[in-house]
Amino acid sequence: MDPTSLQRLVFLTSLLSCSTNQARLTVTPSSSQVFRDEPVSLRCEDASEGWTVRRNTSIDNRAECGVDWGTFAGFSCTIDSSDPLDSGEYWCESTEGSTSNTITITVSGGSVILQSPALPVMEGDDVTLTCRTKMADPPSADFFKDGVFIGTESDGHMTLLHVSRSDEGLYKCSFQSKESPESRLSVSEKPTTSMEPPTASSAPPASSLHLVFRLLRHLVVFCPYCICTYIVVSLYRERARGNDSSVSVAMTPPTHAEQGLDDDCDDVMSAVTTEHQF
Ligand SMILES: *[C@@H]1O[C@H](CO)[C@@H](O)[C@H](O)[C@H]1NC(C)=O
Repeated sequence: MDPTSLQRLVFLTSLLSCSTNQARLTVTPSSSQVFRDEPVSLRCEDASEGWTVRRNTSIDNRAECGVDWGTFAGFSCTIDSSDPLDSGEYWCESTEGSTSNTITITVSGGSVILQSPALPVMEGDDVTLTCRTKMADPPSADFFKDGVFIGTESDGHMTLLHVSRSDEGLYKCSFQSKESPESRLSVSEKPTTSMEPPTASSAPPASSLHLVFRLLRHLVVFCPYCICTYIVVSLYRERARGNDSSVSVAMTPPTHAEQGLDDDCDDVMSAVTTEHQF
């Protein structure tokens, strides 16, 4: 295989691996708020070599896990004992600059937190918000949305039934006049059937562009193989018909566009030609 074919193979392989890579960030415990000293673990799901967890906080910017903070192992980043300074935005990032979803985490140095989903919840789901104190779940807590009182729950749990986009907002709770920090609840649209193509009106242009780009990448990868196979099969057909002339004569001269693709087939064709001349 000559150097250009090898380069092309490496290029195609990297394209293929790019198109299958879209990491997601998850967090354990699955809460957007934790108490100081509690452990937090962030994991890049569906990640491959080169992905890491980064964060923006009040003290650092795009700081890398395992270098600037936390312990990185197996696409998981662990903070053994969290501190209010660990509060911030967390995401996964590849060496090429691709990024995952972002999770906002608040580490409270206070005595009350609101446990709410760190990841967006699906439209129609039931969502439970829990008001926690350092001692135990409070017997009775007040809940607020965007600063407005929305109710008191005697067991510290508030369940939002069949959430919709209108439930999005900043939530907090209070217990004996001690308030938790605020956290955003995000509600994502229920996906329609997965095979349904996005309509032009509902899909943002970026996502349809991305789809076209992905499709092109797949075509770029698979076309040369299809064309090679086609050419090799045609060559054998030509032989089977008892054509005595050399195989290379049976070939039409490659057009400019085919030139590059034919390079890929050089090895196969020279093998065929050599065999033919025996
Ligand atoms: C992190 O901070 C950088 C620099 O201020 C900013 O460009 C970027 O959007 C931030 N990322 C997130 C996820 O907040």
